[in-house]
Order: sequence, then C-alpha cells, then structure tokens
Amino acid sequence: MSLPPRSTTYQPNTLQPSTKLPRVGTTIFSVMSQLAVEHGAVNLGQGFPDFDVPARLIDALHRAMRDGSNQYAPMTGIPALREAIAAKTERCYGHRPDADAEITVTSGASEAIFDAVHAVVHAGDEVIVLDPCYDCYVPAIELAGGRAVHVPLGLAGDDSQSFAPDWALIRAAITPRTRMLMVNTPHNPSGAMFTAADIAELTALLRGTDIVLLSDEVYEHIVFDGARHESVLRHPELRERAYVISSFGKTYHCTGWKVGYCVAPPALSAEFRKVHQYNTFCTFTPAQAAFAEMIQAEPEHYEQLGAFYQPRRDRFREQLLGTRLQPLPVPGGYFQLVDYSAVSDLDDAAFCRWLTVEHGVVAIPLSPFYGAPPPGQRLARLCFAKNEATLDAAIERLEKL
Ligand SMILES: Cc1ncc(COP(=O)(O)O)c(C=O)c1O
Repeated sequence: MSLPPRSTTYQPNTLQPSTKLPRVGTTIFSVMSQLAVEHGAVNLGQGFPDFDVPARLIDALHRAMRDGSNQYAPMTGIPALREAIAAKTERCYGHRPDADAEITVTSGASEAIFDAVHAVVHAGDEVIVLDPCYDCYVPAIELAGGRAVHVPLGLAGDDSQSFAPDWALIRAAITPRTRMLMVNTPHNPSGAMFTAADIAELTALLRGTDIVLLSDEVYEHIVFDGARHESVLRHPELRERAYVISSFGKTYHCTGWKVGYCVAPPALSAEFRKVHQYNTFCTFTPAQAAFAEMIQAEPEHYEQLGAFYQPRRDRFREQLLGTRLQPLPVPGGYFQLVDYSAVSDLDDAAFCRWLTVEHGVVAIPLSPFYGAPPPGQRLARLCFAKNEATLDAAIERLEKL
C-alpha cells in the first residue's frame, strides 16, 4: 500500500470532525448573557449573585496564596476541606461521610456531574432525567455513549404540585438498561423541592434495583418558609447508591471559583475518582484552603442562607405582582419562574430575546431544559440573587410590558 503523496506547500486545514453532540450549541446562559451585554440589558438570566463574597472567604483565599498553597492539591481534595465537608454534612443531615473514602472535591458541580455519569454509564445504558433539567446532564450522558430518557415533571401551575415528580411515570420509564436516575432538589429552573413523600417514593422505586442515583443538591442551603431540604444524605438506603453533588459557588456567592464536591459510598467514589483524576486531577488549591476555613469558622453562613435570600425573594415577588408577569411559587433556589402568557404569545425563546432587545431585561427560556418542551408553555426564568438596585431596575422595565 502506498501513502498519498506529501504536499510540500501548506494547505489550510479543512478537517470537519463529525460531531458527537449534534443537538448541542452554545448554552442558553452564554447566549443570553452575550445578548445582555450587546443591548445593555439588566441580566436576570444567568444564575449568579451580584453581591459580595463573604470577607472572611476572600481573606482566607489571599492568605492561602501568600502562604504558598499554590501547587497541585491532592487529587481527592485537601484533607482539611474534606474533613470540613464531612463535619458540615453531619451537622446538616445527621450523617458523617468518610472524608478519605467518600468525599471528592471537584472543579464545580458541573465537573462532578460529568465524572459521576462517566464513572458508571456504559455505551447503550439509559439514564432517566426529569425535565426540565439542568443543561449539562444530557450532553454528559451522550458523551458517555448513554441515552437520556426524559420524564416530565408535573406541569406548571400556581400550586404545590408544580414540577413535582410523577413517580408512576418514572417507574414506567425504567427498563433493564436503566443505569442511573438524575434528580435535582431544590430544582433549577423551578425551585421545586422533594418532599418526605417523594423520598419515600424514590426509596421504594430504587429498592432491589442496581440503578445509581445522582442527586444534584447545589441549592441545598437556599430553602424558604421553614421547609426542610430532603438531602439524599439524610436517607441511608438512598445514599448507599448515590452520588450527591453540591457547589460552593451557590452557597458562598462565588460561582466563578467553580469549586464543588461529590459525596458517594467508597465503591462509587473509587470509580468517580478514576474519571476525576484524568479530567481535572485536582481543584484550585488556595480556594480549597479558604473553604475549609470558612465552613468551620462561619457555619451560620450556610445555615442562614435561606433567611438571607427570603426577603429578596419576597420583595421581588411583591414587585412582580405590579407587572403583567405571573410569578410561580418558589420553595427553594434563587430562580423565579414567571408565566408571561398575559403579555405575549411568542414561544419562550422568542419571548426572552424580545424581552432583552426591546425591554432591556434578560430572562432564560425554559425550552432548553427539555428534551421536548411542552407545547404552549409560556414560562421564563428570572434570577433574584441580585442587589436591590439591580432588581429594581429590572422591575421598572418589566412594569412597562
Ligand atoms: C442545578 C445545577 N446543577 C449544577 C450546576 C453547576 O454548578 P457549578 O457552577 O458549581 O459547576 C448548576 C449551576 O447553575 C445548577 O443550577
């Protein structure tokens, strides 16, 4: 066999890789944030707080850098942080995971989700996701060669059933190929939270199967009205089969630091770490030292996070009542869904673009969170993790709708 003749002159590269993610474009969060910049719009789209990171955390980060915590951290996370996470978990949920065998620090919850999926999903496996779901779930499943099986959460209404899991539908979606079920409470985008009854249903559903549970709990501390966050870590039978994932970005107002973690039993953690060690290997060392200090020194920060956000939520909802957008209930998280059907017949993507360009407020459409969006749903997501001035500026514009 002869090789093709070698070209002696440079030819521009025309290589076109065949895409592994044909349905994926730029995430809706980047698209809308870019549009916000172009149109000088108030950005209530992407979920990031615009208030300060706790002073102690910033000081601890500086100190860690000055004191030389600048080289690779241990692959699983620095011991002080894993111990702090173990103690915090016990304080919050009455169960202390083993810091060495069961806790892994990651570069954000996104990395943890990717690692967990790749640790257990084989080609041809099915993973059940509950729509609407956070947009990094399905690409992770598909890159692992798996298939996402979409089960809708309850339809939006202004009652407590909004976005509640339908356990009969979920049960019907299970097949011998089901490898994983992904859940998210408090839920992005709706704020819906699992109840104790949901946990009982989930436990019964998984009992006797070999399905792995991935529980995305990044908003674990942002819960309202005295509700209890039903962490999977509270429930022995569930946590034995679960990757439980959280994010310091959400808890400490520093989404840009991208530090999160995963708690899972030793065998699941061992597989998780095989992916993590060749994905990022380790996470920004000085931030790990800073979080270790912060978690221990100021537990009231995470314990009072719901109380910190609740007045913001209430004020924003009150203000929305003066607009033609109808706010849905927000049990947890920092997103407010609004029904815009009194304002427009546009589909949600077109509506959010129109709202940004014509009215200077960025919202996120819900359709990108679905495999197949429910026809005629007129909902958009607004983030209220913002200063009063930002929210007031948005409301002033929304009142004109
Ligand atoms: C439900 C959910 N899971 C995961 C993430 C990703 O978290 P991180 O920024 O720590 O990667 C987010 C971020 O918005 C989220 O809303």
